[in-house]
Amino acid sequence: MSRACLLSAARTAASHAGSGCSSFFARASLKTLLPVSYYSYDMSLRVLIPADQIRVRVQELAAQIDRDFTPGPVYLIGILKGACIFLADLARAMKTPARIEFVGISSYGRGKTSSGEVQVTKDLDVSIEGFDVIVVEDIVDSGITLEYLLKLFAQRRPKSLRVATLLDKPERRQRPVHVDYVGFRIPDEFVVGYGLDYAEDYRNLPDVCVLGRDVDTSVDAPS
Ligand code: IMP
Ligand code: MG
Repeated sequence: MSRACLLSAARTAASHAGSGCSSFFARASLKTLLPVSYYSYDMSLRVLIPADQIRVRVQELAAQIDRDFTPGPVYLIGILKGACIFLADLARAMKTPARIEFVGISSYGRGKTSSGEVQVTKDLDVSIEGFDVIVVEDIVDSGITLEYLLKLFAQRRPKSLRVATLLDKPERRQRPVHVDYVGFRIPDEFVVGYGLDYAEDYRNLPDVCVLGRDVDTSVDAPS
């Protein structure tokens, strides 16, 4: 059965469970199709960075930010939707007072490669003029999104403007963007989990995973 079929079957089983359906079919489906995690029904997922390693690295990045920005406040601007989980964990690991904003961007559609066009779908709700700002990204790939956003935010005259990303795929870079805080440098693989999606699926996986079997799993946490 394909991944899409299994996902949809598991969802159907889950919705039966939610509505209290007690038919044999629903119970049988639940037993066979509602695993405790994605991994049991999606055999193409391979863990690249486990959740406990992410937690440790996020704490290290938070400590670095604390050293750079005390006493604060600092604006953390998350790029929707992929950065929301990283931002939530980073903000709570920091001791420096943080204000949280989000910006919505569309450039990827449902594919695995960028369309190259960036559009702001949700702008900031506040002025960042005179404030320390960190743009929080899930992954820097071509650099097109960040280059666009950094230019946009620089025009708004923040006191400082930096970038934190959980993941960096330097091999794929098309634009020379400077990233100040990098969680992990990863090889050129399409990854999902911990906020990152493929066609809106997989965002709530606690680990960062690659989709596919024969994958390069070398990960580098910059010091
Ligand atoms: P860039 O503009 O090419 O740097 O793309 C950055 C955005 O593309 C990220 O914020 C992600 O939303 C998306 N993206 C890039 N690579 C991946 C990936 O491997 N998995 C999931 N999303 C990705
Ligand atoms: Mg993103």
